[in-house]
Amino acid sequence: MVPRRGVLKGAAALAAGTTATGRAVSQSRSNLPPNIPEWMKTQGATILSPPYGLPSPFEKNVIRRQRTRTPTQTAATTTTPLQDLQGIITPNGLHFERDHGGVPAIDPDQHRLMVHGLVERPLIFTMDDLTRFPSVSRLYFIECSGNGSWNVLPPATTAQESRGLLSCAEWTGVPLATVLAEAGVKPGAAWLLAEGADAAAMTRSVPIAKAMDDALLCYSQNGERLRPEQGYPLRLLLPGFEGNMSVKWLRRLKLGDQPFQTREETGQYSDLMPNGVARQFTFVMEANSIITFPSGGQRLHGPGSYEISGLAWSGRGRVTGVEVSTDGGRQWRRAALQEPVLTKCLTRFRLPWTWDGAPALLLSRSIDETGYIQPSRAKLVAVRGLNSHYHYNAIQPWQVAADGTVTYVA
Ligand code: CO
Repeated sequence: MVPRRGVLKGAAALAAGTTATGRAVSQSRSNLPPNIPEWMKTQGATILSPPYGLPSPFEKNVIRRQRTRTPTQTAATTTTPLQDLQGIITPNGLHFERDHGGVPAIDPDQHRLMVHGLVERPLIFTMDDLTRFPSVSRLYFIECSGNGSWNVLPPATTAQESRGLLSCAEWTGVPLATVLAEAGVKPGAAWLLAEGADAAAMTRSVPIAKAMDDALLCYSQNGERLRPEQGYPLRLLLPGFEGNMSVKWLRRLKLGDQPFQTREETGQYSDLMPNGVARQFTFVMEANSIITFPSGGQRLHGPGSYEISGLAWSGRGRVTGVEVSTDGGRQWRRAALQEPVLTKCLTRFRLPWTWDGAPALLLSRSIDETGYIQPSRAKLVAVRGLNSHYHYNAIQPWQVAADGTVTYVA
């Protein structure tokens, strides 16, 4: 237990120099107590400017960052600044992005969802048709199957660069099962093809069992309509499955008796094993976690009390525990899980930590309701080899140096 007086003394010292995460603050003392700050001396800005609110300009570095871009400048990936966010919800403007042919500009009045193939009644739905069905709102994460890196990254790597192809939102829409019941699924229908209305016509095959289980046709995200880059006006959401299968700008569902073997499940999004055989249809994102504070690029300002905090998740269900080590894995302690702890949703974990000023190696490992424990990099590579590009869920260590700097370790 830290004496309260000690905490307050530390806070006052920080106010004049840098914040706990190392951001420089104004060196001028004229706005500090006991003076009246400048912003109390004049009328503030009017609230309607702009009509859609924006973050404080002082938060200008809390942004999505580009991860990869092809030479054609058409297929892009951006990452969520995990190290700068609290709780479990990703603000819509910071949700990671992945597209295969740019972001289409779709007029919702001209958008249609076609359902055909092995159905009793082939149907075409307008957006008005879809929003008339009984709806549900649920919190789920979405993670790109390419999140994490099989390659060793530079020491300066941040949490955003390590695991930022990960976001979480409250999604609203109609259960896919409801819409399929309207069309009438024919016996023998085992798969459906989901097709996006982007320039890549992104297509994936989805097992019918997943479609009838928890799949959603989503039109809203965190209370407002989907952002264009998240599939406006309609996306598929397959909770716990690799992100690309939650097809955005959804325009077509075709039911069939076998997978459709699209480009995105043959040439792409398969996993080459050490024996040279590629695993196909690896849908589920396994249990994973990352410490977001302290994490790469941040700095601790002296020994004392800190709260280690991070995110844990599993595509197989609920996170049942997170263990944290501050000594490179010799000892592990159970972190507290912040409610709500929901299935296939990000879970926030926290652990009080008194840093003694010596070098420390911080690790976190997630345990899910199946009993699966997130592996070390060595254990993961022993099974998967190094041919893979997708489904990397190894423990992410952070090295804290004696000067408080925090760096990436593979
Ligand atoms: Co996969």
